[in-house]
Amino acid sequence: MKTRANFPLQAFNSLNVPAVTAEIFLPSTVKELSEITTDKALRSYILGEGTNTLFCQAKAPTIIKPRLMGIEVTENDEYFQVSAACGENWHNLVLFCISHAIYGLENLALIPGSVGAAPVQNIGAYGIEVSDFIERVTWYDFAEKKLVDFSNAACQFGYRNSIFKQALNGKGIITHVHFLLPKAWQPVDSYQGLNTIISPVTPQAIMAKVIQLRQTKLPDPKLLPNAGSFFKNPLVTEDFFHALQQQYPKIPYYRQQSGEIKLAAGWLIEQAGLKGFRDGGVGVHENQALVIINYDSKHGQDIVALSVYIQEKIMAKFNLHLIPEVRFIGADGELSHTNRGCQ
Ligand code: EPU
Repeated sequence: MKTRANFPLQAFNSLNVPAVTAEIFLPSTVKELSEITTDKALRSYILGEGTNTLFCQAKAPTIIKPRLMGIEVTENDEYFQVSAACGENWHNLVLFCISHAIYGLENLALIPGSVGAAPVQNIGAYGIEVSDFIERVTWYDFAEKKLVDFSNAACQFGYRNSIFKQALNGKGIITHVHFLLPKAWQPVDSYQGLNTIISPVTPQAIMAKVIQLRQTKLPDPKLLPNAGSFFKNPLVTEDFFHALQQQYPKIPYYRQQSGEIKLAAGWLIEQAGLKGFRDGGVGVHENQALVIINYDSKHGQDIVALSVYIQEKIMAKFNLHLIPEVRFIGADGELSHTNRGCQ
């Protein structure tokens, strides 16, 4: 297996923050994965394409960056089953499916990151979440040194959440994701922006529109380093929402099946006057206030400081606590979002 010592991670995170790990493992097979000692594996951070990771300190923990590759398709009368290895690029998987006339994932086109990372935070966009199409996930258990299959229900998917981010965080690694895509395709085109597609509404037309919307609103990390949405959209109670709506009649909101109301964090940040705000080398994007840009800072701590400032402004104006979607990594591992002590 490929391993490297004192490895620089700046090119391995889309916020372009310099950080160095003492050791990085790059396993290409499950066998190579099993060669990493349990002790070491349990102290490592698993890095996909680094599009949702903020290195807060100059030093990073031991890294495991899986490179398992491959996509396999089987089918029955009703479904395609697509199994993809964790190291595949997410958007390439979407393109692969569309080019093989396997439809359903088109709304998730152009989301940065790897296949293995997709279930961890249950990526979602334009009306669907990846959990809508996951049949099961294969996960390698560091302590037991064996593969375990998790059914969709066992993954405990929620909004930007799953068991892999909660109880199983750091305890193993997703090796393969198995998708079930119905042959009877149903378009999901009600999200604002998609409902303007001129019929016939085809998977290709949805994908083209999604790509166009993302390219207009979301900055390219290669040009303006960022990690997509920095915060989750907050979920609030009906009562809390009604009070807010009295004060801000134009507030965008999305009613959830749970009865909660999802608010748009980007809108809240814009209302707080922070759209386009700059603080030294970091700032809030001019077109989408939910995105933090690292213009030219060399310190992850500058991004932490800006995110805390945004949280404070939102708390003061709306009495709401924004929770980062991005994962904060210190020298010794993941930091909880309430721990601001990383220097
Ligand atoms: N809005 C503003 N100002 C802003 C940004 C947004 O007023 O600066 C308003 C918009 O006008 C709209 C609402 O807020 O009424 C929602 O905005 P948008 O449709 O852009 O989506 P979002 O809620 O900001 C979420 C996801 C994105 C995903 C889009 C599209 C989260 C945290 N983010 O963003 O996911 O692409 O919906 O489905 O759920 C990501 O996770 O990295 C990501 C980009």
